[in-house]
Amino acid sequence: MTRTRRVFGSGMPKHCRVLLVSGSLRARSTNTAVMRTAQLVAPSDVDAVLYRGLRDLPAFDPDDDVVPLPVAVEALRASVRSADALLFSTPEYAGALPGAFKNLLDWTIGDDQPGSIYEKPVAWINASPREAAHAHESLRIVLGYAHATIVERACAHIPVTSAEVDEQGSVPDLMTRARIEHALTALADAAVGTGRPVA
Ligand code: FNR
Repeated sequence: MTRTRRVFGSGMPKHCRVLLVSGSLRARSTNTAVMRTAQLVAPSDVDAVLYRGLRDLPAFDPDDDVVPLPVAVEALRASVRSADALLFSTPEYAGALPGAFKNLLDWTIGDDQPGSIYEKPVAWINASPREAAHAHESLRIVLGYAHATIVERACAHIPVTSAEVDEQGSVPDLMTRARIEHALTALADAAVGTGRPVA
């Protein structure tokens, strides 16, 4: 499969930057492992960047959504703006999104600068061996409020258990890697607008 994306009319290859966001704070997180694996399998024309600031974000308070923003919030928004697309992987806790992850999403919504989450292509990998349906229904609702553009063909259920995560915190299984690469590539292709069909 060719990896080169070309912008119509220009003939020039275009790199796509995808921000990878795990909804888990756990050191041995399966969801973070999926995001790390996405970095490892990313095609050469996709810069897959792992967001590492979840723990540093303050609790969302609209009164704090003013300049100067909390440093961690400014960093989050800069990371979102610098990305062409966002890929999420989150656990479900008690039938809902993890509080820390919902907090992150709340902080993205108030950004009115160009390049914010508004209309940005987004997708998620559901890594739960169970369904985690409530969390992902909720994620869809929150992303709808954010007016993000959900790339349906890049959203995937790719179950990963703790036992499948290696010492490096990634997923070695080749089939799983191929499925993660497919989701990432589908998102990147949608983001850079080549229209190239995804196998
Ligand atoms: C969970 N888990 C869980 N799973 C699920 O499918 N639905 C749920 O409601 C919950 N609730 C829940 C509550 C609490 C307190 C814990 C600790 C766990 C299981 C959880 O989603 C699972 O362990 C994920 O693998 C955690 O993700 P990370 O940290 O491995 O990425």
